[in-house]
Amino acid sequence: MSGCPGTGKTTLSRDLTSVLHTDIISLGELVEREKLYSHIDADRDTKVADLDRLVPRVVELIEKAEDLVIVEGHYADIVPSSFVNVVIILRTHPEVLSKRLEAKGWSEKKVRENVQAEILGSCTFNALNTYGSEYVFEIDTTHLSKKETVSIALKIIYEKPRKYKTGLINWLSLLDAEDQLEKYFS
Ligand SMILES: Nc1ncnc2c1ncn2[C@@H]1O[C@H](COP(=O)(O)OP(=O)(O)OP(=O)(O)O)[C@@H](O)[C@H]1O
Ligand SMILES: [Mg+2]
Repeated sequence: MSGCPGTGKTTLSRDLTSVLHTDIISLGELVEREKLYSHIDADRDTKVADLDRLVPRVVELIEKAEDLVIVEGHYADIVPSSFVNVVIILRTHPEVLSKRLEAKGWSEKKVRENVQAEILGSCTFNALNTYGSEYVFEIDTTHLSKKETVSIALKIIYEKPRKYKTGLINWLSLLDAEDQLEKYFS
């Protein structure tokens, strides 16, 4: 499961686990706990994951798990495709996402960079690049309750409905039509 920071990945993974009894690998927490980062990007105020160590560790955890595993994180496309059944990307309207990231106490610059990534759909782009369109689905959680999000995620896992295929959520054209793009890119 992927999506920009603040889109609700950890929340949905935990909610899904209470229904499906899956294991969860939270990439951000794993990197932090096992110090699987190569350096700290002071400019972005973020730890940069060391993929040479992280990817084999994730594979090891998936292979060791007795249940199905949900891997969640904003760079979840690092999971080798042979281990992936379905990819769910969570999307959130830029205005709502800005508020959620501000509430985390993030700097204006960090909020802006992450909201820009959401507008451009960078997590979806990366997932499509790695896994192909057949595997990748999106949920716009902006106006959904947590329960509704879980129920759509289960539908995607079991039925893979076309309705949640990529290409339908497009903040760029929405904001452009509303003349709002300058607010985020100027
Ligand atoms: N479906 C939802 N509807 C409304 N609010 C939500 C929903 N899912 C999560 N939230 C809220 O959004 C915030 C961010 O959620 P969460 O921490 O799960 O995001 P995340 O994608 O895991 O972020 P990060 O990448 O920073 O770990 C929380 O305050 C959470 O309560
Ligand atoms: Mg999280």
